Amino acid sequence: MQQAIAILDSGVGGLTVVKEVMRQLPREKIIYFGDTARAPYGPRTPEEVCSFTEQIVDFLSQFDPKMIVIACNTATAAALEYIKGKVNVPVIGVIHPGARAAISATKTGQIGVIGTLGTIRSGAYITALKELNPGVEIVSKACPTLAPLVEQGRYETPEALELVQESLTEIRFYSLDCLILGCTHYPFLKKEIRQVMGPNVKLISSADETAREISTILYQKNCLARGNEIPIHQFFCSGDPEIFRKIALQWLGEQIELTPIVWQVANPS
Ligand code: DGL
Repeated sequence: MQQAIAILDSGVGGLTVVKEVMRQLPREKIIYFGDTARAPYGPRTPEEVCSFTEQIVDFLSQFDPKMIVIACNTATAAALEYIKGKVNVPVIGVIHPGARAAISATKTGQIGVIGTLGTIRSGAYITALKELNPGVEIVSKACPTLAPLVEQGRYETPEALELVQESLTEIRFYSLDCLILGCTHYPFLKKEIRQVMGPNVKLISSADETAREISTILYQKNCLARGNEIPIHQFFCSGDPEIFRKIALQWLGEQIELTPIVWQVANPS
């Protein structure tokens, strides 16, 4: 049996990474968990997000994955280092790949970052970007209304454009050449974000670069899937399976095998 890549997010946002992994690594089997019952993670404390992430990693570990991808910026900021110390397989997040993609795309060194409250408060993008190039200038802005909008399937609506306009009011007046979509839900709103930011700002999503990093790690470890077996991906979500199924079908363009999970422990909030 082929070992899978485990991918997790607070909800449907990690599907933006799943789509790229399916495109770049079509032989790889994916096991995905979207914690839709407890999304959004953005307003929660880092401790809470870390404990939710650990719980999901424990759940996914029963499938013996060959690597774990925290496809959620908020959970990456709060839990990546902790989870790395806890499991014996490679673990990656989406912040370093996103930062790398922005550094390679910027010409002027003026980079914007949008994300959840948790991600922006953590300063994780500033640290990651400055580690790569201390000379870049960064403007960041939390956009707390956007992930819930996507989670409810209300992207591609007039309301979505209004909320994006409102969220980007300040940041669009900076002279940026790149804007990092520092939340895996935001590629669902790329059209609206493009409309508001204009054609000259490159929109950076970490999905491509994260899939490339997965591919590099699996290649180096000699763990890439072989053979012609078509992988059957498995999806789990903790909230309403119907909305998850609908969004996944729209985004991935295929039906998914989805199992709803009810957490047995109390939701602390
Ligand atoms: N998709 C997540 C991220 O990349 C979090 C959205 C949320 O649950 O607030 O940060």
